[in-house]
Amino acid sequence: MLVNATEMLRKARDGKYAVGQFNINNLEWTKAILATAQEVKSPVILGVSEGAGKYMTGYATVVAMVKAMDVSLGITVPVALHLDHGSYDGCKKCLDAGFSSIMFDGSHFEIGENVAKTTELVALAHAQGVSIEAEVGAIGGEEDGIIGTGEVADPGECKKIASLGVDFLAAGIGNIHGVYPSNWKGLNFEVLAQIHEMTGDIPLVLHGGTGIPPDMIKKAVSLGVSKINVNTECQIAFTAATRKYIEAGKDKESKGFDPRKLLAPGTDAIKATVREKIELFGSAGKA
Ligand code: 13P
Repeated sequence: MLVNATEMLRKARDGKYAVGQFNINNLEWTKAILATAQEVKSPVILGVSEGAGKYMTGYATVVAMVKAMDVSLGITVPVALHLDHGSYDGCKKCLDAGFSSIMFDGSHFEIGENVAKTTELVALAHAQGVSIEAEVGAIGGEEDGIIGTGEVADPGECKKIASLGVDFLAAGIGNIHGVYPSNWKGLNFEVLAQIHEMTGDIPLVLHGGTGIPPDMIKKAVSLGVSKINVNTECQIAFTAATRKYIEAGKDKESKGFDPRKLLAPGTDAIKATVREKIELFGSAGKA
């Protein structure tokens, strides 16, 4: 069932758990994530970066694939199809293509411009029943060639953006996309608590979910985080399983070179990763 993410995240906030956003890259990724969410009866958000959208030949292809697969796999749990770190133009394209949720990442603009563009996109998204996430304070690390420096958001700016009618808010609290460096200082819970206090009951989003230790995840959820994004961890799991298959020479046995065989261990590895995260985030059995 393709829905926007507003209700599932309000329920998560009230129930003190988080819904996972897992980024998709292709059919295998989408199939693995949808099937796992259904198996563990969890709501789920499929994240699509602008780069991944392009890779899949455009947003219309993504919408068609996800909608068809939702039906063909018999998915009954709520599924949101969400643009991840969208530009202003990307958001408009996804609204046209039929995404059920978008993120406008105006964190690199000065606050006035972030406010103006977010305000406009909130009105456009809501007119179509689409949910919208906004961001304050760039998330560090590199994603799709965009490098952020791991800022910590200003709680006052978070309050300002939250008051524009966005449905959920991403705020940098020392989190980073990709693998955390060994000298990472961890999440800044002091700032998260301040943001939570100043933004009222808006569900908060934690980006850079890969490699955040379980105790930090649990603490973040207790401080208002209702959506957690995971991307790199599925990529690493997929690649490790594929490497193992090839290094074991399985592609040379019988018809092991068939892509349906070659990609199966990686797909199963994504499923295992998604299941583990859903269980950690506490959303299993909530749909
Ligand atoms: P990771 O790749 O670090 O899991 O981050 C994903 C993310 O935040 C997508 O927006």
